[in-house]
Amino acid sequence: MRQVVLEGRGDFAEWRDAARALLADRVAPRDVMWQSGETGGDLFSAIGEVSRETVDAAAFSVPKVFLSAAEAVVCHSDPERFELLYRLLWRLAEERRLLEVTSDPDVAQLRSMIKNIRRDSHKMKAFVRFREVPGVQVERRRFVAWFEPDHFIVGRTAGFFQRRFTDMDWLIATPKGAAAWDGETLQISNAPAERPDAEDETDVLWQTYFTHIFNPARLKIRAMQSEMPKKYWKNMPEAALIPDLIAGAERRVAEMAARAASQPPAFHERLQEAWRTREDEAAEAAGTLSALAVVRREAAGCTRCALHCHATQTVFGEGPEQADLMFVGEQPGDMEDLAGRPFVGPAGRIFDEAVMAAGIDRGQVYVTNAVKHFKHERRGKRRLHMRPEAGEVAHCRWWLAKELEVVKPKIVVALGATAYLALTGEAKPIAEVRGMPIPMQDGVILMVTTHPAAILRIPDEALKAKSLAVFRADLADVFRLRISLED
Ligand code: URA
Repeated sequence: MRQVVLEGRGDFAEWRDAARALLADRVAPRDVMWQSGETGGDLFSAIGEVSRETVDAAAFSVPKVFLSAAEAVVCHSDPERFELLYRLLWRLAEERRLLEVTSDPDVAQLRSMIKNIRRDSHKMKAFVRFREVPGVQVERRRFVAWFEPDHFIVGRTAGFFQRRFTDMDWLIATPKGAAAWDGETLQISNAPAERPDAEDETDVLWQTYFTHIFNPARLKIRAMQSEMPKKYWKNMPEAALIPDLIAGAERRVAEMAARAASQPPAFHERLQEAWRTREDEAAEAAGTLSALAVVRREAAGCTRCALHCHATQTVFGEGPEQADLMFVGEQPGDMEDLAGRPFVGPAGRIFDEAVMAAGIDRGQVYVTNAVKHFKHERRGKRRLHMRPEAGEVAHCRWWLAKELEVVKPKIVVALGATAYLALTGEAKPIAEVRGMPIPMQDGVILMVTTHPAAILRIPDEALKAKSLAVFRADLADVFRLRISLED
């Protein structure tokens, strides 16, 4: 019996060298005992250990596909993996097409192990959660993460994180090895790492993100648990919300249906048109049509993009023509589309309350949207909000630019990412630009905050209250800035 003792958990090069030497000596698989550090192999007790000198003696060729399969399977935590690989290698000398025989038990086991490795690696990419290391004064930000893979996949998967998070220093620690990146070198260790002790506000961000993307109407618990198995939950901040979200899903679906958007009455469009024409005609006759009213009238007939085909009407901005403060939302919702006024629906209520709490009089500010037509999809009689695409936002910037040109506000507040995109041409996560004055053209100051509808969509009451408080604090900052500019 030949005993092969691999160091640590045994890596591919080590196994390959040992297997080559065994093949060169014509040692049959049943005569080999494979041991690795993780199965308790003791390097000093190896009897009849394979001699490294014999390694180069083995001249043989194996299919490439076997080598890449072996590279993956060596990372499996099954202690039998080395034996299986050597058995397959041995058999391949006689059975060149062995790997195509999917009914063969060795091949089936190989395939299943490769699948396990791929799945584990996929889970690591999806479920690693970085936390910032506090108080370290370095140029690059430093993050740590703890993950518990089933297999030794850290080395195989680390390249993904290196490409993705290249501009920060990070360490991913796991009981099956660790990977660290410092901007220049990716270091991999196979030794079990210790769990780092770190917690930061990104936990709340993950939770907020998760509650936003959680759609109770699409909930399929089995599929969800198969995609995000429970064993990963303990290292994922957002997982703490899952039980409550599942428990409340049915109620939320019922609430959504109750709040369902309605179909505009067939006569609505004609009513709006008649109203608009009479008002404008009267002003025109009196010679009092303001610059803003002229733009509004042009916008009423806008066909710059396809959104006008399905909306009831253009919802133009409203407020004093010389307002020093302008708020820009995303697009009109169902109620705004029917009423022809911005922010009069549920998001408008959140907006109004927050504006009032900040000491701002809505009647004294200009309120508009990045996109002036309601984009939606029909579900039966309901019209469900759809986010405008970048092209639609770009078309509508024409009107926003005219509003800015006429109103000339000193401060513009972008409510959410679509407004930010419309105002700057840049797509950015709100968290990156929120809460700081951003200078724009002509001395205008841009402030960025969340969209009130995003607050409405948060199902968890505590998180919703927190998000609302931050929104109100942002508007209080706007108020202070406004006062300071008055001086
Ligand atoms: N959401 C917006 O962005 N604007 C509105 O007018 C209403 C809801």
